[in-house]
Amino acid sequence: MGRALAQNLADRKITVIVFDRDAAARSRTAEDPRLVVAESVDAMFAKLAPPRTVLLMVNAGAPVESATGELRMLLSPGDMIVDGGNSFWRDTQRRSADLARAGLDFVGLGVSGGEEGARRGPALMCGGTEAAYGRIRAWLEAIAARVDGHACADWFGPDAGGHFVKMAHNAIEYGVMQAIAEATQILKLGLGLSFPEMQKEAAAWGAAERASYLLELTQDILGRADRETGRPLIEVISDRAGQKGTGGWAIEAALSLGVAAPTLSEAVFARTLSGSPERKDAVARLGAPARRGVLERGDLGDALFAATLVCYAQGFQLIRAGAVQHGWVGDLARAARVWRAGCILRARLLTDVASAYELAPDLTTMLAAPGIASMLKACEPGWRQTVAFAASNGIAAPVLSSSLAYLDAMRTPRGATAMIQAMRDGFGAHGFERIDKPGMHHADWS
Ligand code: 6PG
Repeated sequence: MGRALAQNLADRKITVIVFDRDAAARSRTAEDPRLVVAESVDAMFAKLAPPRTVLLMVNAGAPVESATGELRMLLSPGDMIVDGGNSFWRDTQRRSADLARAGLDFVGLGVSGGEEGARRGPALMCGGTEAAYGRIRAWLEAIAARVDGHACADWFGPDAGGHFVKMAHNAIEYGVMQAIAEATQILKLGLGLSFPEMQKEAAAWGAAERASYLLELTQDILGRADRETGRPLIEVISDRAGQKGTGGWAIEAALSLGVAAPTLSEAVFARTLSGSPERKDAVARLGAPARRGVLERGDLGDALFAATLVCYAQGFQLIRAGAVQHGWVGDLARAARVWRAGCILRARLLTDVASAYELAPDLTTMLAAPGIASMLKACEPGWRQTVAFAASNGIAAPVLSSSLAYLDAMRTPRGATAMIQAMRDGFGAHGFERIDKPGMHHADWS
């Protein structure tokens, strides 16, 4: 991704001095005559005039830590480090504060779109001081993806504002990917479709206003054969899913900020469960469930779209709560606009979401925006059918079903939780609020 970003910068006539620790990577980078490749960090520094801007494209965690430590020794006040990785936002806060004490700027830059995005135009979510953003803004806007002439790059507040928005992007990505995986599993196990048939269904799911990059990718995957065996690619891939951390960090943040993100957490736990050893015993002892019922194909597409909307809604709530707590930019229209192109979440739907938040910045939940509420209503019958079908056929659909439970919990005027309050008071004298007078009260349990 580092090389791809450097080439993208070079396309815009921005001079880049590149250093990579790996000699083979340096030689590959040097094949592009527009890039100046330095043979050492010192040689790179010798070529940079102050104030220097160093963009780090290394893995989050220890590599960012050691690179930042090394650079700190070399940089002078007024210089800037931009961390373009998926760093943990609390690390970004700490690094920003540490470097600020040395007169250095530290910018946490969320970069989405993978290698191809980095090369052709990523979505960029920038944190750091506003002044630091001002210094690099023109570069970011030059290399970012564009929609109607607007760059998909913006500033989200000091220190970790950008990395937090990127983390929320990834958590939504986890949710949408899991929803797609569940929907394809229902096609296969529930409806017994062949791969070409499944590919057609995926094309229908992503038609018109439901178009998204992840659904295009799904179609591509369903049509691919494994080079070695000739079998459908998806059949030779292990079902153990990986994760690098952003999804889990988002759930931790949701818990500590008091944001309900059950659907996003189901997506994270689905990956955890996919690799857990106890599955083996459950497969052996519990066996396959019986199959029953029918499902209209359009129903499944509706369920997938509705679950996608709920994933977005939970991710946006997280961004807002984080911004309120940490003094970042809680402008949700801004996040939706940046995600319209270049990133993994890019989807037609984000234009509607951006307009909804532009019209009503204080919208308590995106699901209540009139246009989005009517999309959800239209999807509801099919969504319920799908969840019922998955449950009655023993097909795990944690995201499709938890998103529906979330919606039902949100829209019920009087929830089930009065019972919880009564029980808490009954066994622990925790007290409860009443509907008819203020204050905390106790029932007489004698
Ligand atoms: C992106 C992606 C990218 C990557 C993450 C997710 O926006 O370009 O989100 O950042 O896919 O690293 O990784 P995991 O699925 O491994 O957590």
